[in-house]
Amino acid sequence: MNKTSTTRRNPKLSTPTSLGAEATRDISGALNALLADCFALYLKTKNFHWHVSGPHFRDYHLLLDEQADQLYATTDPIAERVRKLGGTTLRSIGHIGRLQRVSDNDAEYVTPLDMLAELREDNARLADRMRETHGVCDEHGDVATASLLEVWIDEAERRAWFLFEASRPGETPR
Ligand SMILES: [Fe+2]
Repeated sequence: MNKTSTTRRNPKLSTPTSLGAEATRDISGALNALLADCFALYLKTKNFHWHVSGPHFRDYHLLLDEQADQLYATTDPIAERVRKLGGTTLRSIGHIGRLQRVSDNDAEYVTPLDMLAELREDNARLADRMRETHGVCDEHGDVATASLLEVWIDEAERRAWFLFEASRPGETPR
């Protein structure tokens, strides 16, 4: 159970669910941490989208925008899943900062290849954490959250794949 979870039961906000109080606590805690990671990685991806430079600018700029959009699109379903389970979810940027496990990168300048490598690693770790959360869902028989996670894991792995391929050195022309 995540120590910093904020899923304490408030009777006014506890949606009835047949999964039980332990499921609400454990799955909500895991999902809120994932939600914080998605917001943090969304903003880091936008940061690199805004600050990338160099000969591959257009390709990288567009790739990162597409990936940021995909991350942002996962945030609302994650938060609403927590509410469906009777938990409470994130309330502020400060709350994200307290729960996120993705590290920020506030460097003045990052080379394009370092940007791609860092995001590839972040997305791979995100997929790992989603797989762990899937295990928590399995323990409690929460097939709906598990099924959503399966899609998001595939998306995170796709982002990692694109970042990996985009950063490979080109073939030397003959
Ligand atoms: Fe943009």
